[in-house]
Amino acid sequence: MQLPDGIDQILSSQEEIKATIQRLAAQISADYEGQEVLLVGVLKGAFIFLADLSRQLTIPHVVDFLSVSSYGATATTSGEVRIIMDLRTFIRDKHVIIVEDIVDTGYTLSYLQQLLGARKPASLRACVLLSKPDRRRVDTPIDYLGFEIPDHWVVGYGLDYSDMYRTLPYIAVLKPEVYLESQ
Ligand code: IMP
Repeated sequence: MQLPDGIDQILSSQEEIKATIQRLAAQISADYEGQEVLLVGVLKGAFIFLADLSRQLTIPHVVDFLSVSSYGATATTSGEVRIIMDLRTFIRDKHVIIVEDIVDTGYTLSYLQQLLGARKPASLRACVLLSKPDRRRVDTPIDYLGFEIPDHWVVGYGLDYSDMYRTLPYIAVLKPEVYLESQ
């Protein structure tokens, strides 16, 4: 297959992603049987993952989104997380699952767990498609995890580099020269 410019290799194919989402959705559906769940998607990266995950769930659920920023247009984190857009929903006494594309240093997820946890939901868990354990700086619980991956910048299936490559149907490794050039 001819890969787009800047892409090094495919890490997870469409079929692998689909099977992983089925596994996560089955696990969540079993764990929350008889309960309604609020899925909180973290924009923009999680929008495709959340759309596919939600359609595989067999339990009643609603969705909402928030947006945070810590990276700007680069591939390095400042460690400072800011909320750009908050939820429309009041989450008190609800079963909340944060749906995140990727956990890298852990700063974003840890910030969201503290922020949303303070609003007293009935329960708060995290469902994450990808994790880079070698990059972790803060320990943050991930209740449902798709894949662990090595320390590469990955794009596709909602993940971007400077808003590019987001709609590739697979998850791919970006060539380091793409992000090293802009630093
Ligand atoms: P953390 O706060 O360092 O864990 O970073 C989490 C956020 O950084 C994710 O929600 C992504 O938006 C972004 N991010 C981290 N690594 C990657 C990557 O390899 N590709 C695309 N986005 C990434």
